[in-house]
Amino acid sequence: MKIAIICSLVRPEEKLLLEAFAKRSIPVEVIDDRGIRFDLHALEAWKQYDVVIERCVSQSRARYILRALNLAGVKTVNRYEVVENCGDKFITSQLLVQHGVPTTRVKLAFTPESALAAIEEMGYPCVLKPVVGSWGRMVARVNDRDAAEGLLELRDVLGGYEQHIYYIQEHIKKPGRDIRAFVAGDRTIAAVYRTAEHWITNTARGGKTSNCPVTPELDRICVAAAHAVGGGIVAVDVFEDETRGLLINEVNHTMEFRNSIAPTGVDIAGAIVEYAIGELSH
Ligand SMILES: Nc1ncnc2c1ncn2[C@@H]1O[C@H](COP(=O)(O)OP(=O)(O)O)[C@@H](O)[C@H]1O
Ligand SMILES: [Mg+2]
Repeated sequence: MKIAIICSLVRPEEKLLLEAFAKRSIPVEVIDDRGIRFDLHALEAWKQYDVVIERCVSQSRARYILRALNLAGVKTVNRYEVVENCGDKFITSQLLVQHGVPTTRVKLAFTPESALAAIEEMGYPCVLKPVVGSWGRMVARVNDRDAAEGLLELRDVLGGYEQHIYYIQEHIKKPGRDIRAFVAGDRTIAAVYRTAEHWITNTARGGKTSNCPVTPELDRICVAAAHAVGGGIVAVDVFEDETRGLLINEVNHTMEFRNSIAPTGVDIAGAIVEYAIGELSH
């Protein structure tokens, strides 16, 4: 069995994965994405690996790497499609709606004028986000028309191509927290509440994690969300809406999990390793 982890840096997550392999006495090769040179006419060399775990910080590198490896017939965690689907918030939302998974209302617009109209239709407050991004960056709550006009002008004048795609989401009034759940295949392996004073609860922005029980209801909606984007190992952001119950916000493909092990007591790295080994028999 030959396994590789492709990463940019060995962060705490990658260290934990390496330890989980070591604990099982499974050798694993670490490949630095900065050194990769794909030769499209000689991809067969990659077939030496039975499974490759992608842990790149850069989403664009992850996409190209997984596309090349899947093209060469190499099994990867996650698959290329999953990264494509999770890497763009509009595609994720579209797939959730298509698969009947409860999610927030979302609108997409391409000009500041149509975005303003969409925001007014959505009502205040609402949330404006880039379709690509993480760690809560550029996620903005829009409280009134003045704020909307200011934000839209800023993005129009200063932003690059991606800032000209306007993803507008209804704002969910949350109980000071939201849920981050980890799915491996057909199972929600762990979940945490992320609590923050600020309405943005990402742990990269200071959100604190505590254990969230994986109820059958939470498990069902998270596994459905994971399946909608193509399955694998994903982290699902869930909101608790006062009237509608659980709603999916987004699904993440190469998640961080260092802050979720202690509160849940779940060996998330071990679960990822078991999943990757399980892929070998498919
Ligand atoms: N529509 C919303 N209603 C309420 N809170 C939101 C909404 N969208 C985002 N948030 C808050 O902002 C955080 C970051 O937004 P998210 O869509 O998850 O982007 P990122 O990819 O940067 O994590 C969420 O985890 C949540 O705490
Ligand atoms: Mg998120």
